[in-house]
Amino acid sequence: MSKVPTLRLDRLLANMGYGSRREVQQLVYAGLVTLDGEVIEDEDQRIVITRDLSERMIVRGKPLDPPPGLALMLHKPLGVTCSHKEAGPLVYSLLPERWRRRDPAISTIGRLDKETSGLLLMTDDGNLLHRIISPRANISKRYRVTLDRPLRGDEAEIFAAGTLMLEGEDKPLLPAAMEKISETSATLTLTEGRYHQVRRMFAAVGNHVTALHRDRMGDLVLPEDLKAGEYRLLTEADLALILPPAKSV
Ligand code: URA
Repeated sequence: MSKVPTLRLDRLLANMGYGSRREVQQLVYAGLVTLDGEVIEDEDQRIVITRDLSERMIVRGKPLDPPPGLALMLHKPLGVTCSHKEAGPLVYSLLPERWRRRDPAISTIGRLDKETSGLLLMTDDGNLLHRIISPRANISKRYRVTLDRPLRGDEAEIFAAGTLMLEGEDKPLLPAAMEKISETSATLTLTEGRYHQVRRMFAAVGNHVTALHRDRMGDLVLPEDLKAGEYRLLTEADLALILPPAKSV
């Protein structure tokens, strides 16, 4: 049986960005932290970290932020970047300010280009991150692609063959499934994530991607009511849609 994680209250709140341990101590002494309706008096009280902690702990009159082990989906808008190396606002700027001061930090599970929108997962759980990005997990990712020129007609066959070699690479791409939507749009479902893969695949067949949007990972579909720039915590049920037991590694 796996051990239930516990942390001292001051360590927990400091790690969640509520301030230094000394500042958290002051919050506790001021009676501003309650658990199950009772004021916590000792900053060294060990807290059992459960998913429902935000419903049970109140800090300065507000429910506790999601405890460590959080996972979320963000509807990434165009123009924000997943990488500190790229210019422009980061996806982290779309999360509450305090969440950006957490330890362990929240990171993206894989990346989307600055000019790609759609479903982006984020977590502070390194184990979950690795389970999702591991090639062995084989998680599909579906993209809606808008193209500059009409489809030729042979793209689906070429992408499905598992023989397409991208420029500068020495290993062919795994088979990918393309479904035509119109003359200049399609969905493309991949099970790997090479650099600028979708754009380079269409470049390899003489086309150019003018808009790219990811709308699905595994069986998890980006909800229609989650607007660009908004995020939502993932439930256990959502995670099961991404990592069904049979596919978990
Ligand atoms: N393929 C791309 O070219 N860009 C992305 O952001 C994701 C897949």
